[in-house]
Amino acid sequence: MTPHETGRNYDAIAAWWLDRMNGSDYGLSALQHALTFADRHRTALDVGCGGEGRFFRVLLENGFQCTGVDVSEKMLESARSRFPQVALHLADICTWIPPEKYDLITAWDSTFHLPLESQEPVLQKLCAILNKGGVLLFTGGGVESPGEIRGEMAGREFSYSSLGVSGFLDCLERFGCSMLYLNYDQWPERHVTFIARKNP
Ligand SMILES: C[S@@+](CC[C@H](N)C(=O)[O-])C[C@H]1O[C@@H](n2cnc3c(N)ncnc32)[C@H](O)[C@@H]1O
Repeated sequence: MTPHETGRNYDAIAAWWLDRMNGSDYGLSALQHALTFADRHRTALDVGCGGEGRFFRVLLENGFQCTGVDVSEKMLESARSRFPQVALHLADICTWIPPEKYDLITAWDSTFHLPLESQEPVLQKLCAILNKGGVLLFTGGGVESPGEIRGEMAGREFSYSSLGVSGFLDCLERFGCSMLYLNYDQWPERHVTFIARKNP
């Protein structure tokens, strides 16, 4: 499934998603944990930010100037109405050209939708736009080897891909980051939270 198709599917389920996430703290304990590693609180990027904005809320409270990117027009519309102070870009992270570097980058349950062949280049891009000492928090499939699967959400089909845990770790190291934290946070689901830091 292409990122464009993923975006159209999220457009179709945006109202359902926003309703489901209303008042949710999903992922916030991981974000708080990532913040403990962040020396500087200047700029933050949320990749696949969605429309609900709980990550922006915490990042703004922590003094960050926030940027978001999402491939779904409907999700972004909602984010715009809730967070007019955030710089929001309607774009696919695979082709988006970031305007600056960041002290913190989050990609919570978003890059796991990328086509498998885009996982490594996107991870390379995210590591490249982290400031030295900057922190990257993302989620990915906690499987043994690279692969793609399809799943259903709110009546729509979505695709998911993963480099496998060792594939993610290998990329992070090659792209100049050190692993700080890895957690199978929804076991027995193969959902993994990764926190890494750009080497100074
Ligand atoms: C499961 S939602 C998560 C939204 C938000 N991170 C949250 O936790 O509430 C996945 C989001 O990632 C976005 N997304 C998926 N693929 C993307 C891509 N290639 N570029 C940018 N955004 C993408 C979707 O449009 C959707 O808003």
